[in-house]
Amino acid sequence: MLPIRRDLHFDLPAERITDWHEQGPFITHFFNALSLLFPQGELFFMDSVRHYRSRIEDPALKKQVLGFIGQEAMHSREHVAYNNLLHAAGLPARTLDRRLKFILDLQKKHCAPSFNLAITIALEHYTAILAEILLSDPSRFGASLKGYQQMWYWHALEETEHKAVAFDVWNAVIKPGPKRYLLRTGAMLSTTLFFWLTVLDFHVRLLIADRKSVGFLKGFWRMLKFLYGPKGVFPRMLMPWLHYFKPGFHPWDHDNRERLAAIDGLVEDIEHTRRGY
Ligand SMILES: [Fe+2]
Ligand SMILES: [Fe+2]
Repeated sequence: MLPIRRDLHFDLPAERITDWHEQGPFITHFFNALSLLFPQGELFFMDSVRHYRSRIEDPALKKQVLGFIGQEAMHSREHVAYNNLLHAAGLPARTLDRRLKFILDLQKKHCAPSFNLAITIALEHYTAILAEILLSDPSRFGASLKGYQQMWYWHALEETEHKAVAFDVWNAVIKPGPKRYLLRTGAMLSTTLFFWLTVLDFHVRLLIADRKSVGFLKGFWRMLKFLYGPKGVFPRMLMPWLHYFKPGFHPWDHDNRERLAAIDGLVEDIEHTRRGY
């Protein structure tokens, strides 16, 4: 599986940045909170993998790493553009981005590169899980605004395409054994806590900053159902999250490559939307 860098731009109407999701601002801001994590988060992933690049001997993996970095760089660039719309709408996007940068810079400076790579593969597993949840059920977006949907689908498909690259780097450069297993799973536990606390924090801050346009009761119940209901995002994450703790786990154990057949059609669709037909 060779990840391909796709240089795309999206049609994101600025006036809908706080309310592009079919189910209203509460769920829109859940995705917006995730978007605020990407520019700094993906920079962290690229740096963690780049650190080990010179130790990779397999030419196929070397090419995959190039594709991985190319894709994450494009994601980062497009999420910066998306997050600028949040800033322009008067929301604290820049403050939250700076705060995350401060934390991740400390992490890069003071933690071992192997721990940073362990965090990267844990977060890549999260992005792959979230991507599969989106791709497997189009009703999660329903009739949401097209340009925004396309951007999230593009990101989800490419996260699926490169889901094993950082993990294969991990397997290639970290000595196998119980220590490697404990580092990988320990990093998943700490990452789980940090990641979801940060998403919750960013989500709440966006909702508070945008409180004038957020209709409280109805939107709140919809959000609870979307995130925690029987078919919600969090219950759906549990099994794939647990699989990560299997000693011989590999991201392609869950083979969902058939999703990637949708990429070419999506790219065409994105071009059409941008040209306005
Ligand atoms: Fe990404
Ligand atoms: Fe990724």
